Amino acid sequence: MRIFITGHRGQLGRALWDELGSRHELVGGDLSDWDMTDRAQAAALIVNARPDVVIHAAALTNVEYCAEHPAEAVRANGVGTYNVALACRDADARLIAISTNEVFDGQVSQPYQEYDPRHPINPYGYSKYVAEQVVERYAPHYAIVRTAWLFAPGGVNFIHKILARARSGQPLPPIRKDLGEAAHFLWLMTGEEPTPDAEHTLDVSYVLHAEHGFNASTFTGRAVASTLSDM
Ligand SMILES: NC(=O)c1ccc[n+]([C@@H]2O[C@H](COP(=O)([O-])OP(=O)(O)OC[C@H]3O[C@@H](n4cnc5c(N)ncnc54)[C@H](OP(=O)(O)O)[C@@H]3O)[C@@H](O)[C@H]2O)c1
Repeated sequence: MRIFITGHRGQLGRALWDELGSRHELVGGDLSDWDMTDRAQAAALIVNARPDVVIHAAALTNVEYCAEHPAEAVRANGVGTYNVALACRDADARLIAISTNEVFDGQVSQPYQEYDPRHPINPYGYSKYVAEQVVERYAPHYAIVRTAWLFAPGGVNFIHKILARARSGQPLPPIRKDLGEAAHFLWLMTGEEPTPDAEHTLDVSYVLHAEHGFNASTFTGRAVASTLSDM
């Protein structure tokens, strides 16, 4: 199968490239190659590549930046996805669009179902909500895959943000049980056994311990393990 990956140099794009490369013929496009907000560029790059499937991982993903530049967020994620969807239509390609948990507001007590009403509460979430709607409306054959807490070597993600805050001495807000993959990652780094009686939040102490080598801090291990055991 011939697969076009948008954002193939991003965190997820690189992982997809590695995962799929041995079994499929891959083509990629990133911001250094094209700007998906440019309709002509998107059409030319994708249609000329003649893909069977487009995996659309490119996005403006910096949540804080999106909050400060909401129009740019909608332009990148909404208009950009619109252009990708139209190009998929022109190329007769299926579209797998990567989306986010942030199309929801989190105000429910049970896991979300795929078709629950979306209600984003920040500009990034709103821009991805627009993107989902565009995909549903304009892509001929699509799947929307929502994910959360992505991290990968070389990427800029919450791990870096937590460490940066800890290093600068800023307090961290409590991190809830939906820490998810983050906890898993940090637990792997601590190498500590899960214990059932730990605290449910990570605070600056935790991260400061983490900064000192991710080792030997029972508090670190317990806090993360507790989060893990509740998931
Ligand atoms: N990161 C998360 O925790 C998270 C959580 C849930 C969902 N997602 C979704 O998962 C997908 C992949 O996320 P990621 O973490 O891999 O993101 P990422 O590392 O920021 O990669 C996104 C890629 O898209 C490119 N890009 C941005 N604007 C573009 C434009 N206008 N035209 C073409 N390319 C553009 C970026 O290029 P530059 O690097 O040159 O800017 C970057 O290579 C995104 O759809 C995101 O919304 C991410």
